[in-house]
Amino acid sequence: MPTASPNPLTVGLSKALLPEPCSLVIFGGAGDLSRRKLLPGLYNLMRDGVLPANFAVVGFARTDLDDERFRALAREGIEKYSRRSLDPDAFEHFARNLFFVRGGFADPAAYAALAKRLDEIEPGCGVPGNRIFYLSIPPSVMGVCVDQLQTAGLVRPPDAPPFSRIIVEKPIGHDLESARQLNATVARVFDENQVFRIDHYLGKETVQSLLVMRFANSIFEPLWNQKYVDHVQITVAEEEGVGTRANYYEEAGALRDMVQNHILQVLCLTAMEPPWSLSPDVVRDNRRAVLQGLRPIAGKDVEQHVVRAQYASGFHHGVEVPGYRNEPNVKPDSTTETYVALKCFIDNWRWAGVPFYLRTGKRMPKRASEIAVQFKEVPPILFNTDLHSPLEPNVLTVRIQPDEGLSLKIATKLPGPKVRIYPVKMDFRYGTTFGEQSPEAYERLLLDVMAGDATLFMRRDAVEASWTWAMGILEAWQERGTRWLPQYPAGSWGPLEAEKLIGADGRKWRAL
Ligand code: BG6
Repeated sequence: MPTASPNPLTVGLSKALLPEPCSLVIFGGAGDLSRRKLLPGLYNLMRDGVLPANFAVVGFARTDLDDERFRALAREGIEKYSRRSLDPDAFEHFARNLFFVRGGFADPAAYAALAKRLDEIEPGCGVPGNRIFYLSIPPSVMGVCVDQLQTAGLVRPPDAPPFSRIIVEKPIGHDLESARQLNATVARVFDENQVFRIDHYLGKETVQSLLVMRFANSIFEPLWNQKYVDHVQITVAEEEGVGTRANYYEEAGALRDMVQNHILQVLCLTAMEPPWSLSPDVVRDNRRAVLQGLRPIAGKDVEQHVVRAQYASGFHHGVEVPGYRNEPNVKPDSTTETYVALKCFIDNWRWAGVPFYLRTGKRMPKRASEIAVQFKEVPPILFNTDLHSPLEPNVLTVRIQPDEGLSLKIATKLPGPKVRIYPVKMDFRYGTTFGEQSPEAYERLLLDVMAGDATLFMRRDAVEASWTWAMGILEAWQERGTRWLPQYPAGSWGPLEAEKLIGADGRKWRAL
């Protein structure tokens, strides 16, 4: 059977930390995230030989399951969602380490049962008492869960082995106030260095490779500033509609769901200063500094700088699909946004005056996420003299998903006696070069928690800084009390208003 061995995946960004044998307790273990991402992710880590050989996974939920039915749920999740197909022998080995405890999140008896069960199974699995508690549950029950963990004596002090760590899944709050409360609740019981707040975008391979691209090459960094960069576009486009998640999404909307966390984190890695070391807190300090430098968008500015919209009915791969207001569990007069486009600035020396255009939406024509850095034009002296037909600018694009890679658009001469200039792309694709599928974001992040490397997790102050910025926009929307949002047909690239937002600056959204 596979055992843990050094592998590039096991090397945290900061140093070569190895994941340690541990139990992972998944609160909400029968839920969607567990079935689709966590259990398949753990299975893949085991198949790759990077999961510690000694591990136990305990699902905890109110759902009527036992060990056997939890294993069946894991099998089904792996068959459906794993990047590697299910191998019966490997699954059997994996399943032997899966257990289930049934209980309510506020029920002290259930936590006592959990503690007893962990004590029973850990010796057999070779786990020395290290425990990770994964909160994949609604924020409304996170507080009670944390308190119950403490009451049941399940939380160990931060400074001596075996370790206790907690993973907090998003949404981390609904606004600044609730995020602060949640952080304070967690902090009553866990030390900040035991807390791992997940933003799964930070675990995506290409997002991480941004740091390598910027700081392991000498050719990009000198140009990475307001002298040479015209503007930056960050796009996260999704094909899917709201699906079955309307109960959550109606209260969230695209700004809370995608911008406040994922897109701002991508922005941070794109714009941050070179850290002086790769230790987690140095990298996290620099990410937070970007959030602190973000110029607030509030009051009247919101109307000018931010567009929100909702998808109307349209077509998805030729099939007619309903508009957002007609999706199950969505209010017929809902004003929840499924699309946001905005222009923001980072007021620091490096980025002064450079607009960052961010956009995200559901029911776009395709799934495509990228960061595009557009450089300034060359002076109109030798080759850029025709005002009516300017040269296409250089653009460096980092494709986050799918088709992960980098491309650089440059001007070249078309072969022939005349000087005719043609833009070409130098393209690097992970799939072609490395020939294997990148691990899923959750795989990487789970390993990092087992290794105790917090670099790719959100620190408390960064969560609060990003909410502080988002609140300006959310409060202005609330004050305006809109009853109608601009619409865009499902399967289109968003509303006209978003074209106008960028068009007013003489620029265009990139065609993806
Ligand atoms: C989640 C959001 O955090 O990220 C979802 O809640 C969104 O609404 C998802 O669909 C996108 O993640 P990915 O990895 O599929 O791009």
